[in-house]
Amino acid sequence: MAEVNPHAYNTPWQFRADAWCRLEEASYRLSTAVARGRDLAPLIELVEGLLARLRPFERYWAFPGSHIFNQTQRLFSTGAYDKFGRTVAKINHGLVTESYRSGVLGSPLEGESEALNVGGAIAEVLGHHLPARPYFELLIVATMTEAQELALANGVHSWRRPDDAFLYEIVVVGSGDEAVIAAQLNANVQACAITRRFSHRSHRDLSALAHFVDTHISEDLADHSPDERVEILAKAIREARPEIDLYLITELEVEDIAGRLGHHFRRIFHAGEGTLDRHLSLLEGVAARYRTPFFSALREYSHRPTGVFHALPISQGKSIVDSHWIADMLDFYGLEVFLAETSATCGGLDSLLEPTGPLRDAQQLAAKTFGARQTYFVTNGTSTANKIVEQALVAPGDIVLIDRNCHQSHHYGLLMAGAQVTYLDAYPLNQYSMYGAVPLREIKARLLALRAAGKLDRVKLLALTNCTFDGVVYDVERVMEECLAIKPDLVFLWDEAWFAFARFHRIFRKRTAMHAAKAIHERLRAPEYRQAYLPYAEELAGADDEALLNRRLMADPARARVRVYATQSTHKTLTSLRQGSMIHVFDQDFDQKVQEAFHEAYMAHTSTSPNYQVLASLDVGRRQADLEGTELVQKQVENAMQLRDAIDKHPLLRKYMHCLSTGEMIPAHFRPSGLDQPLRTGLRNMATAWEQDEFVLDPSRITLYIGGTGIDGDTFKRVELMDRYGVQINKTSRNTVLFMTNIGTTRSSVAYLVEVLVKLAQELDDRITDMSLTDRAHHERAVLRLTSPSAPLPDFSGFHTCFLERNGDGSPSTADGDVRRAFYLGYDDSFCEYLTSDEVEQKMESGEQVVSATFVTPYPPGFPVLVPGQVFSRQILSFIRSLDTKEVHGYRPHLGYRVFTPKAIEMAEATARPWSRLGDSSRADGRLGIDLGVESLAAQAKPEPRPQVGGDADPLRVPG
Ligand SMILES: Cc1ncc(COP(=O)(O)O)c(C=O)c1O
Repeated sequence: MAEVNPHAYNTPWQFRADAWCRLEEASYRLSTAVARGRDLAPLIELVEGLLARLRPFERYWAFPGSHIFNQTQRLFSTGAYDKFGRTVAKINHGLVTESYRSGVLGSPLEGESEALNVGGAIAEVLGHHLPARPYFELLIVATMTEAQELALANGVHSWRRPDDAFLYEIVVVGSGDEAVIAAQLNANVQACAITRRFSHRSHRDLSALAHFVDTHISEDLADHSPDERVEILAKAIREARPEIDLYLITELEVEDIAGRLGHHFRRIFHAGEGTLDRHLSLLEGVAARYRTPFFSALREYSHRPTGVFHALPISQGKSIVDSHWIADMLDFYGLEVFLAETSATCGGLDSLLEPTGPLRDAQQLAAKTFGARQTYFVTNGTSTANKIVEQALVAPGDIVLIDRNCHQSHHYGLLMAGAQVTYLDAYPLNQYSMYGAVPLREIKARLLALRAAGKLDRVKLLALTNCTFDGVVYDVERVMEECLAIKPDLVFLWDEAWFAFARFHRIFRKRTAMHAAKAIHERLRAPEYRQAYLPYAEELAGADDEALLNRRLMADPARARVRVYATQSTHKTLTSLRQGSMIHVFDQDFDQKVQEAFHEAYMAHTSTSPNYQVLASLDVGRRQADLEGTELVQKQVENAMQLRDAIDKHPLLRKYMHCLSTGEMIPAHFRPSGLDQPLRTGLRNMATAWEQDEFVLDPSRITLYIGGTGIDGDTFKRVELMDRYGVQINKTSRNTVLFMTNIGTTRSSVAYLVEVLVKLAQELDDRITDMSLTDRAHHERAVLRLTSPSAPLPDFSGFHTCFLERNGDGSPSTADGDVRRAFYLGYDDSFCEYLTSDEVEQKMESGEQVVSATFVTPYPPGFPVLVPGQVFSRQILSFIRSLDTKEVHGYRPHLGYRVFTPKAIEMAEATARPWSRLGDSSRADGRLGIDLGVESLAAQAKPEPRPQVGGDADPLRVPG
C-alpha cells in the first residue's frame, strides 16, 4: 500500500484526508493480521510512517485534536492494535462525514470521558436535540500545558447554550509562528484570540509543514516588546486570512492597550473577566459575517400573505398554482422560488436603484468581504458592470487604454461613452492561437507616447482583463504603480469577470484589484516610501523614455490618487445565480468626482425590474465566500492540480495531449523567478513566482493541448466531450480546450473527466492502429496542421487616419481612435459596401486602405480582429483565413466584410477632428499634467499644444 507524501499535494486538506484514509486501511489490516497470526512488521512500519506524516499536522485542527491523537498513538505504541484500529476508524469516519462539526460526536477513544460530547450532553439534559448549527474553530495563541488545553476546551463546552447560533471548538498554539501556520492550514478557523503570553518561536520542527505554508512572520519576535509582538502577529494573521476575527486577551490595562492596538482587533478583553462575554462576542463576530440582510428579508417577505395588484402575475406563484397547463413548472422549480418572486421595494425589501435598507446593508457587507470601499450588485452580468463603470468614468473625448482582446462589453461600453480608444496588444501565443496579456512595457510606452503628444491630461482610464480567459494573471500592483508614476490620476478598471474567487486564496489575493489598491494606498502614505521616493526622483530627472521604460517607476506619493474599479462575474466563480455580478470600488475620489455620474450610469444600464433571486443569491454567495471561501478555493486548486497530474502522468494520455504549463503560456522573459510550474513544487514556490513574475498562470484553469489527437479544439469540445459524454467546457482554440475548475468541482468530477479523456485516447489509439495507409496519412496531416504554428495572431493594425485626431498642422495625432464615430457611420448603408476576402486583398494590393465598418470577431478565439474604423492588414486576412472556425461574427459568408466606401472615408477625412479637449476642459483631473511627479521632468516634457476649445464639440456627430 502506498505511502502518502505531502509533497504530492497542494493543500493540507487533501493530504490529511488521504493520510487518514490510508491509516484506517493500514490499521484495519494490522488488526486482522494480528487475528490471523501474520507477519506484522511491514504493517507496523506502514502505520508508523503514516502516523509520522500526520503528527506535525494534527495539532492545528480541533478534531481529533492533539490530545486524542496522542492517546491514539499510545494505543499503537503499546500494541493495542485492535483498539487502535477501531479508534482510527471512528476518527476517520468523523472526518469523512464531517460529523465532528455537529458537536455531538462521542470521543473516538473507548473509555475516554466524553470530552467531545458536551453538545450531546447538553441536548440530553435539556431533553431535545440541538439543531444543526454551523461549526468553526477558534485559534488561541497562548503557552499552555496539555492539561490546561483540555480544561479550556471543557470550559468552552460549558459556555455553550442551546440557542447559540454556532458551535465551535478550540485549537491552541503556543507560539507566533505556529499561529500563522494554523491560520493557513486550518480553514475551519474563523476567529483567533491572541494572549500576550506566547513564545517567540516554536521549539517544534516545523519543516514538514513548509510545503503548505507561504506566509511567515519575517521579524524576530524576540527583538520586540510584547505590544509589538502582538501587533506583528495580528498583521501576519491578517495577511494570511483577512476575514478572521481577531481578539486580544490581556491581563494588563485593557483601556490603555485598546487605545494602542484596538484597530487590529475586533475586541480586547481582560483575561480575568467574563468568559461568557467572550463567548458571546465570538459568536456575534461570526454572526456578523453570516448575516444576509437581503436574502433574509426576501425569505421573510415571501412567506407573508399579500394581495398582488402589481404587474407580476407569477409573484407568489399566483399565476401558476391553479393553472391547468403549466403545473410542471411548479413541479420542477418548487413553490419557494415563486413565493420569492417579487419586485416590492418596501415591506422590508429595498430598491436596487436607490437602496436604503437590506440591499444597502448586503452591499456594504460585500464591500467588507471583498476589501472594497463600495460594492454594487449588478443583475445583468459583468457585461453590464463594465458598461456602468465605463460610462461613469469616461466622458466623450477621454482617452482610454484597453487590451484589444478584452470582452466585447468594453468595446460597446467605450463606444457608447464616446471614448478615444487606444488598443493595447497582448503578447501572442501563436502556437496555440491565443493571446497572453499586455506587457507593462507596452502600456508604459503608450502612456509616454501620449505624454509626448501633450495628451496625457486626457487619458482617463486603463482597462485590463485579469485574469484573462486562459488564466494569465497580471502583477496588478506593479502595473498600477508604474502607470501612476506617469499619470498620477489614472483610473484603473480591472475586469475580474473570472477572478472573484481569487480574494479567498492568500496567494491569488495579492494580484486582485482591491487588494492591490489598498496595498498601494498604504504604501504611498508610508514614511519609508516617501523617503525612498526623493532619491529616486532625483536620479530619474532628465531620463528619456527608453530609460523610463527600462526601470521600475515609483508613483509620486504627493500626487498619485488611488482610483481602482473591479468588475466580477460572481456567478462565474462563486455561488450566485446566472448574471449575478459585483462592481467593487476603491477610489479615493469617488465621493467628489464619480458618485453622481456612477449613479446615472447605474440607472442607465439597470433594469427597473431587477431579479430579486439574483440579488439574494449574491448576498448568500458573499456569506459563503466570507466563511468558507478559503476552504473551497483551496479544494478547487487542489482538484485542478490533481487533474493536471492525472493527465500529464497518464502514459496513454501523454501520447496525445498535455496540460500547458506556465512555461508554455508565459514566455521566460516575463518570469524572473525562472519557475516553469510554480504550484507543482509547493505553495512557497507559487508564492515566489506570484511575487516576482510579470505574469503568472491561474492554476485552476487548465488549457489542454490536443494537437497530437489530430482533432481541432472545437470538434473535440462539441463532438467528443459534449455530445458523447456530457462534459461541458467553455473555450477552445485551434489545438486546445480549456477546462475550468470552480468551487463546485469535486474529486469525482475530476475523476470522470480523466476517465472520459482516457476513453477518447484509447479509441483514438485503436483507430490509428487499424488505419489504412491513406487514412493514416490523412490523420498525420491533421496532426501536422494542428501542431504547426498557425498564421501569426494579428496586432491591432490601427484606425484609419480619418478616425484619428489631427494635430494643428493636419497630421494625425496619436493612435487613439474615435470608435463611436466609426461605429455610427457604419449605420448608414449608403456609406458601406461588402467585399469578399479576395476583393479586400486586391484593393490592398493596389495601395488602397480598406476600413472595417463593423466588429469582426472569429469565434473561437472570440476577440474582434477588426473594430469599426480599423484598417485591414494582410496579417488579419491571413489569420482569419487560417482559422478552422466557421463562426466569424461581422462577416457574412455570401457577401463578405462590411467596409466603408471610399466616399465615406473621404467625407470622414474631410471632417476629421482637430484634437482638442472635448467636453469640460476645466475638469479637475486634467490639471495633474504629464510629468513623472518630478518638477524637473515636467520641465523637459514637450510643450503641450493648447487645447482648441470650441472645435468639434459634438462627438456624436456623423459626417454627412
Ligand atoms: C473578461 C470578461 N469580461 C466580462 C464578461 C461578461 O461577463 P458576464 O457573462 O457576467 O456578463 C466575460 C464573459 O465571458 C468575460 O470573459
